[in-house]
Amino acid sequence: MILPLPVETPIQSASDPQALADAVAILAQGGCVAVPTETVYGLACDARHREAVAGVYAAKRRPGFNPLIVHVDSLERARTLVDLSSKGLALARAFWPGPLTLVAPKTAFAAVSDLATARLDSLAVRWPKSRTLTHLVKAVGRPLAAPSANASGTVSPTRAEHVKKSLNGCIHLILDGGPCPVGVESTIISLLDPDRPDLLRPGGVPRSSLETITGPLCHQAPLSETAPSSPGQSNRHYAPRARMRLNVTRPEPDEAYLGFGPHPEIEHSRFFNLSQSQCLAEAAANLFAGLHWLDSKTDQIAVAPIPEAGLGEAINDRLHRAAAHSESMSAIASGSRSA
Ligand code: TXA
Ligand code: MG
Repeated sequence: MILPLPVETPIQSASDPQALADAVAILAQGGCVAVPTETVYGLACDARHREAVAGVYAAKRRPGFNPLIVHVDSLERARTLVDLSSKGLALARAFWPGPLTLVAPKTAFAAVSDLATARLDSLAVRWPKSRTLTHLVKAVGRPLAAPSANASGTVSPTRAEHVKKSLNGCIHLILDGGPCPVGVESTIISLLDPDRPDLLRPGGVPRSSLETITGPLCHQAPLSETAPSSPGQSNRHYAPRARMRLNVTRPEPDEAYLGFGPHPEIEHSRFFNLSQSQCLAEAAANLFAGLHWLDSKTDQIAVAPIPEAGLGEAINDRLHRAAAHSESMSAIASGSRSA
């Protein structure tokens, strides 16, 4: 039986032992709990439990063809789920626990609901650094499926209050562990062709670090949260409500500004600096909080140019997807004007 949903989803401290015990009980009964990780907040459920996984898709309004990442607490547990090639093992040993997800062939005995994998023969696995999430995997004794804890297609959550705003009343509990230190989601590498690993999503582990093990990585688009048969929309993720304009050094007076570096000339109240000192790790950690904050204040966000090096690749990936939403809205608007 699935737990009834609360009208108001409680937020409890992730360092409170009683809250952790509550989370374990909810997960064991097929409920879903938002959990802080080093990347973003995840919406965790028992990966084996069909109704629990269905509850996560329903809470996020996520299309069923988009599979979930399954989280583990050790390399041994990961190897019960996927067959890692030698390159996969080398990546796991170098970067786990941490912000790296590996997509590999599912083992015959992987105890994961086929809803979580969208019936694919492959599975995405991550051993996160988050002590809260690994504690829950251990305590429940099962891998936990966890997509980002936001409504599908919207800006990802890096604070408990972002989760509450997006999913209040749709999930059972939010554990508050403060701001997520990495701030962008995990890097996803596909090992389905063992000789040619693919970078499916740039993220918390920079490409250059991975390439010391894999050699040059190809970059393929990941599975999309929108219908793959709608190619014009396939980039739509992380979309704020406001329209976005990228690579702007001088915002218009009516635009809010997401800056990067010293901007002494910009004084207005709708200004959020990703990093005054041009530190990309700080910018990544602040990215989604900046987008959430500006989105609550304005209809137009201009964004400073961000270098593509290191974590810049992941930051630019998220910004381009967020801006793709604005572009498709403009196309629809101009299409309807000319019609
Ligand atoms: O940092 C993260 O990865 C966070 C935290 C909570 O771990 N999770 C996260 O999950 O970002 P989500 O669901 O928002 O993004 C997972 C991505 C989706 O684009 C999904 O299509 C892709 O992983 N994915 C999952 N299984 C896959 C598979 N078998 N093959 C290819 N892509 C897959
Ligand atoms: Mg997501």
